[in-house]
Amino acid sequence: MSTRITERPIRLDDPDALRRWSLRCHAAGMTVGIVPTMGALHAGHLSLVERALAECDRVVVSIFVNPAQFGPGEDFERYPRTPDSDLELLRGLGVHAVFLPTVAAMYPETPPVRLQVAGDLGTTLEGAHRPGHFDGVALVVAKLLISSRAERAYFGNKDAQQSVVVTRLARALDTGVQVVVCPVVRDRDGLALSSRNAYLEADERRRALAIPGGLADAARLFDAGERSAAALVGAVRASLDRVAAEIDYITVVDAVSLQPVEKAGAGCEILVAARIGRTRLIDALRLGLDDAPVVPG
Ligand code: PAF
Repeated sequence: MSTRITERPIRLDDPDALRRWSLRCHAAGMTVGIVPTMGALHAGHLSLVERALAECDRVVVSIFVNPAQFGPGEDFERYPRTPDSDLELLRGLGVHAVFLPTVAAMYPETPPVRLQVAGDLGTTLEGAHRPGHFDGVALVVAKLLISSRAERAYFGNKDAQQSVVVTRLARALDTGVQVVVCPVVRDRDGLALSSRNAYLEADERRRALAIPGGLADAARLFDAGERSAAALVGAVRASLDRVAAEIDYITVVDAVSLQPVEKAGAGCEILVAARIGRTRLIDALRLGLDDAPVVPG
């Protein structure tokens, strides 16, 4: 009698292999969840994976630093790449498959089609500071949803605008994929987990805490009854000014349309993007829904 040992996670290297794996899962009556990532996995990613494992029969995590979503002069080259430790973490969680394509496997030719995220959604906030970024995100996410044939795809709400983009993309392209947006995960000092936190020097890391600190101030004001978006933005700005952060934007928006509001209601989001030294960080807080970040000192 031969024993078949299946090494987990199965490693898939190109979109065809991903599609064939997914079709086998479906043929066996199983649902598939995908967690798209760029690797350098942290507890934020792992929370998405855990949610996917709880809700889907089979889970694939994609690890691909997507050149199409980086602009000239951005950090594509130096973006952290840690595939060995990523695989270890995913093995520990019992993930079924990992999709780890090369750039050539994902983009064997200059893509002959483009996706453009239309209107304000693609050109405000992150889109204004990173022109073309969401078109690149849309392209790779569309490819991942098509080849994985997943029932569900998991994203983190730190990238709140991205979450709206991919939710609307999945619907607009009739993918049938349910996009599941999960809460921001924070480090013990309150900083939202991000692969880019690895760029911060110790002193910059301390200064970066002004972001969750400011969001905590705004959340407390909101909980005490403040509804003026300008006052909530002012609280975050004051915190960032104390550490001389370079602010790209601080705004209170409707969570679905991402349009700025003057009066904040429960579920509206405060979105922040700021540079600490050379590192650009973003964060998001859902007023009245998310716990205020707990920042020491
Ligand atoms: O959020 C990310 O890590 C990336 O933008 C994503 C969704 C994996 C697409 O490359």
